[in-house]
Amino acid sequence: MALFKKKETETSALPEVLPKHVGFIMDGNGRWAKKRGLPRPLGHAEGAKTFRKILRHCKDVGLQTVSFYAFSTENWKRPQEEVQAIMNIFREYLDDVRELLTENTRMIFLGSKDAFDKDIQEKMLRIEEDTKDCNEMTLLLAANYGGRDDITHAARILAEKVRKGEISPDDITEKLVAENLYTAGYPDVDFLIRPSGELRLSNFLIWQCAYAEYYFTNILWPDFSPAELDKALIEYANRHRRFGGV
Ligand code: IPE
Ligand code: IPE
Ligand code: MG
Repeated sequence: MALFKKKETETSALPEVLPKHVGFIMDGNGRWAKKRGLPRPLGHAEGAKTFRKILRHCKDVGLQTVSFYAFSTENWKRPQEEVQAIMNIFREYLDDVRELLTENTRMIFLGSKDAFDKDIQEKMLRIEEDTKDCNEMTLLLAANYGGRDDITHAARILAEKVRKGEISPDDITEKLVAENLYTAGYPDVDFLIRPSGELRLSNFLIWQCAYAEYYFTNILWPDFSPAELDKALIEYANRHRRFGGV
């Protein structure tokens, strides 16, 4: 394993082979708060801090595409106050876009924006526009995202194209479906990291994770650290991927 010199940290033994796309399911905020006798929203606020820290580390390490699951299509069913608190944290984050620009990081949202309040939708569109020429790393933020919704949305786009006579049903290939998902243009997930001890995808990038390697840890997301990410990346480098071959 070669030594990889990171920009900010001293040195660290990281592998040369990094996943092209790392997905993070940011889970465990509520339990983190509960353990401390705090209200759940404080867990989300702490989780947002961890998100910034880990995103920074992804950049330092040299990852190209990273996706973070922030809010699922199913999370709307949570108590109103909790959803509201998450939305306010989201607003705050969206106001910090300059951070992304100085980091030369492009930001794209996965999921339909329609479900959000108008001011949030506008902020989302502005960030996508402002960072569209940033090319060192791409952050795919899954907000109001569901893998099933992603595939359904793509199916609708393709059906509309068939209806208009632009394509025939025979033209619908896996490649064409992928090109109509929210992640169009970005590689499939190579490495999926889920903290909090749950062993499931919870509707995150189900198509894109078809051949992903999974990394589960009991650490709750607010406690997830750059060192833990390094550990995971080293484990990834030692996995043997076959994609159905030998
Ligand atoms: C993840 O943490 C954040 C969101 C789903 C928005 P949770 O809120 O699911 O935390 P736990 O799983 O209840 O601990
Ligand atoms: C998945 O976590 C969604 C996000 C982390 C945004 P959940 O907490 O919603 O997943 P389940 O309900 O435990 O499967
Ligand atoms: Mg959870």
